[in-house]
Amino acid sequence: MTAIARVDELACGKVLTRTARRPTGEEVGILLLQAGEGIFAYENLCPHMGVPLDGGTGRVPRKRDHVFCAAHFATFDAATGVCIWGPCQGRALEPVPIAVVDGEVRLHWAAS
Ligand code: FES
Repeated sequence: MTAIARVDELACGKVLTRTARRPTGEEVGILLLQAGEGIFAYENLCPHMGVPLDGGTGRVPRKRDHVFCAAHFATFDAATGVCIWGPCQGRALEPVPIAVVDGEVRLHWAAS
């Protein structure tokens, strides 16, 4: 399992962006955040138009338990990835499987 962040990097409420490779070799952008007691990872692709939520800046806007797409301001629940407002309402960010081990967040993709 590949480590993509330390848990303590998420404590301040930031949304981290990372790039990783799937077991198939495909590169994928990842959003990583903490909400409540949970840590969540999603593909960095908005379900509205398939563009990165951060608009390529590396910074994803967040307010409390919501994250926003920089393109058209869709609002996503941080813990579920579901769009609760905006042009993709009802659709969701694609979750990325992770595991927290020894203070690290590690990708947990099944080998293909
Ligand atoms: S591309 Fe994200 S809200 Fe339109």
